[in-house]
Amino acid sequence: MTKQEQDRVLIFDTTLRDGEQSPGATMTHAEKLEIASLLDDMGVDIIEAGFPIASEGDFAAVSEIAKQTQNAVICGLARAQFGDIDRCWEAVKHAKRPRIHTFIGTSPLHRAIPNLDMDQMAERIHETVTHARNLCDNVQWSPMDATRTELDYLYRVVEIAIKAGATTINIPDTVGYTAPRESADLIRKLIENVPGADEVIFATHCHNDLGMATANSLAAVEAGARQIECTINGLGERAGNTALEEVVMALKVRNDIMPYRTGIDSTKIMNISRRVSAVSGFLVQPNKAIVGKNAFAHESGIHQDGMLKNAETFEIMRPEDVGLTETNIVMGKHSGRAALRSKLEDLGFTLGDNQLKDVFVRFKELADRKKEIYEDDLIALMRTTTDPEEDRIKLVSMHVVCGTEGPNQARMTLEVEGKEHKTEQTGDGPVDAAFNCVKAIVPHNARLQLYQVHAVTEGTDAQATVSVRMEEDGRIVTGQSADTDTVVASVRAYIHALNRLLVRRAKGGTDKREVSYKDVG
Ligand code: KIV
Ligand code: ZN
Repeated sequence: MTKQEQDRVLIFDTTLRDGEQSPGATMTHAEKLEIASLLDDMGVDIIEAGFPIASEGDFAAVSEIAKQTQNAVICGLARAQFGDIDRCWEAVKHAKRPRIHTFIGTSPLHRAIPNLDMDQMAERIHETVTHARNLCDNVQWSPMDATRTELDYLYRVVEIAIKAGATTINIPDTVGYTAPRESADLIRKLIENVPGADEVIFATHCHNDLGMATANSLAAVEAGARQIECTINGLGERAGNTALEEVVMALKVRNDIMPYRTGIDSTKIMNISRRVSAVSGFLVQPNKAIVGKNAFAHESGIHQDGMLKNAETFEIMRPEDVGLTETNIVMGKHSGRAALRSKLEDLGFTLGDNQLKDVFVRFKELADRKKEIYEDDLIALMRTTTDPEEDRIKLVSMHVVCGTEGPNQARMTLEVEGKEHKTEQTGDGPVDAAFNCVKAIVPHNARLQLYQVHAVTEGTDAQATVSVRMEEDGRIVTGQSADTDTVVASVRAYIHALNRLLVRRAKGGTDKREVSYKDVG
């Protein structure tokens, strides 16, 4: 390796595979394509686009992402089975730079599931990596639960995988059990003791159960790993995966003590963070490093005086380094269309003329109700822009009576495929009464999996953003909306989800996964 290559750490993003497997984080096909394109655009080296054998939907998403991606390597996950590997190859082979990622659980607990002894598992690894390598010249192999695998056995199976042709060896801390010193020791020992280790790239894949995923990943890099596996916002099962934004910014800000570089354009971080949060329905905690709402709060908060004198007083990185622009009041009633377009461009949204027209109308409506419009209000507006295909049901009007006395009642008129329908219903609270109205007009058996309300800004006139997730016959849809009236936002989000469900029903197919990566088989 040249000096330059030694310094380069590859960023492997698994938001669309490990992140999306997080219960409830399901994204639609179009959302997955959008996120993949943002990942490619920000300079991610490898995108793990999904688990093709898991479902028709996963297969279609990985294939489509493979076709559309310009720069990044496109990787699919496969268990240590020929059928999985073939299916994975069928999906990724369309990519300019395809990769097959195959894995098996090697720790005692994981070996017990397929009931393989050490020799049988070693043989399985040899056969499956060889098979993958016969299909694709870029093969990644992972011993799942590596950090709880006997060290000698780990040496043995890593050597087998390298001899069978794996080009990247990923060392997963599947249950977030390791600690920084141990994470570094493991990588160092593997590099020192496994024959052929110098011919492959070692990767680190950490889960955050003990809150150490970022520290463990960086420690692994210092010990010689040159690929970090991570997700946007740290999305992932349980406590999530290593957060991309954290490792990228740590390597950038502390380059003095960690002299490694990535290919990531860090100014794209905020935009993709917001998009992943919006499409997954997983809000980012306010005090989350790098992308939390308060991460740069001194911009307008108590540290302002020090900040004005010398920004470095409280700042180790600049907000603009992560793509954050001015956080103060940005627009008002008198702002024009050009100003709106330019502000939205700053926030990472490029709009066509028709889309701008629609957003501008809604911006004006909002400005009539709310004196000060903040960036977060604009982002919420963008979140609620719907696809014209998804407007078979429209809210015409609604009126809700609520309070401590009497039943909560809602009156509503909906337009369904051009025809108006009216109803009046009661419920346990105003939202329940309003949802009952929608259900009375558009009967369905979908189960409400999530109903989440979030205030966009401070103040009692703040907009509420509402996310609704529904499931019907294995199809999962989410709807979103924002309004200064929480009940209106709730009903719009519910209708948005229902419209999406109607589209999904018409198209057929389900989101049900036939297998999960936990089915070692
Ligand atoms: O955490 C893990 O072990 C994984 C593997 C499938 C690589 O995600
Ligand atoms: Zn994982």
